[in-house]
Amino acid sequence: MPLSIVILAAGQGTRMKSARPKVLHQLAGKPLLQHVVDSSRALEPEQIIVVVGHGADQVQNEMQGQDLQFVEQREQLGTGHALQQCLDHINPGNAVLVLYGDVPLIRAETMASMIEQSRDAAVCILSWEAENPFGYGRIIRNQQAVQAIVEQKDATPEQQAIDECHSGLMLIRGDKLQRLASALKNDNAQQEYYLTDVVGISVADGDLVCAVVCSDPDEVIGVNNQRQLAAVEALYRTRQVEMLMEHGVKIYDPARIDLRGVVEVGKDVEIDVNCIFEGTVTLGDNVRIGANCVIRNTSIAADSVIQPMTSIDEAVIGRNVSIGPFARIRPGTELADEAKIGNFVETKKSQIGRGSKVNHLSYIGDTEMGSEVNIGAGTITCNYDGVNKSKTVIEDGVFIGSDTQLVAPVRVERNATIGAGSTITRNAPADKLTISRAKQVTIGAWSKPKKKEN
Ligand code: UD1
Ligand code: CA
Repeated sequence: MPLSIVILAAGQGTRMKSARPKVLHQLAGKPLLQHVVDSSRALEPEQIIVVVGHGADQVQNEMQGQDLQFVEQREQLGTGHALQQCLDHINPGNAVLVLYGDVPLIRAETMASMIEQSRDAAVCILSWEAENPFGYGRIIRNQQAVQAIVEQKDATPEQQAIDECHSGLMLIRGDKLQRLASALKNDNAQQEYYLTDVVGISVADGDLVCAVVCSDPDEVIGVNNQRQLAAVEALYRTRQVEMLMEHGVKIYDPARIDLRGVVEVGKDVEIDVNCIFEGTVTLGDNVRIGANCVIRNTSIAADSVIQPMTSIDEAVIGRNVSIGPFARIRPGTELADEAKIGNFVETKKSQIGRGSKVNHLSYIGDTEMGSEVNIGAGTITCNYDGVNKSKTVIEDGVFIGSDTQLVAPVRVERNATIGAGSTITRNAPADKLTISRAKQVTIGAWSKPKKKEN
């Protein structure tokens, strides 16, 4: 069945008390709306239409380049009015699945199963039994048959006692779309065109309406205020963490980990408390992550250990590498197998070869480092002259003494040794000791200054 998806995202979200359009508020590092778009892709719809209104430019800007059709709803006169704006854009005859941009945790499988169960109904909705139904549209049934959806503000006290609620998910049969959308009225407490009224209208037309009850209430939480946003964030985290544990990851405390993206894992991975993972992170077999690490868009190969308090951003880490504690690995860092980065070391846009060690208090930037290199404590690559960045090359087997400055562009050749405290401005030849500090002298005719008497 060819399917068109319409995602409603024009509302302001007054209850968020924020200048940002509600659907752009971030959940797990991406906008609420992005979550809905991503899940709906799995249904392979013919088109995805996003209705924008409040902050339309901003929403389109943040969601560009994803093959979405944007339809503007200039005045936000209700969810039904939002769908009406799409009528000219929906591929004729297609069934329409309406999703709300503020219901971000809905799973593709749930949508697919609802579509399957809808059979030939004119309208099919996804409902759930809410623990706290306040604010949601209530499902009115007569015996079993669905009769209508009544919004909170229009509901009688008896209707308010109903705890079966509308999730926002609705499938409308292609041949019913025009009739239902044009029959909506705004004679209700909010003077809005409610999309939910299509249920009552279909029943009055004598058409079949079905409600599929969603078994997982967590999936259908709507985000209308900061409290619900935090609740959804916590649920998302729980979902991700449970998935990791199912893959065999040892998580020291499932309540103290944040996953804002996708984490792929091998076997016997361990993650200590308070770690944050963002973007796409890959952890190989036996990788161990210490407490308080922030890791973003990075792959870490098998047997590597990330010690506590380490920040890693857009890096490629080999096997059996050790990093930290207190290390900062910045974008463009590539660490080969067996490399070692110690405390208070910063690296950026640098390749560090197999088995090389930068153990203490160093900055390595724009550097190509061979294998089995040893960098002494406090070594700095001076890669920036205030205008341009330049490259440092350190070949295999080099030993750099402590507190050395390598002023780029500069090359230290194979197996060279640099004496401690040197400022290296020219290439250092292979296999030789190069040293640039002043000779040590002791001044005989010198005495300590004495305090002046006034
Ligand atoms: C809506 C449903 C309610 C359901 C709940 C589920 C209606 C009338 N009510 O209520 O039955 O239980 O969602 O979370 O549909 N929007 C527009 N244009 C508008 C108004 C809203 O695009 O003119 C968008 C909003 O951006 C939002 C979505 O539609 O993404 C839902 O709007 P909202 O005002 O949050 O509806 P609820 O009161 O939550
Ligand atoms: Ca809502």
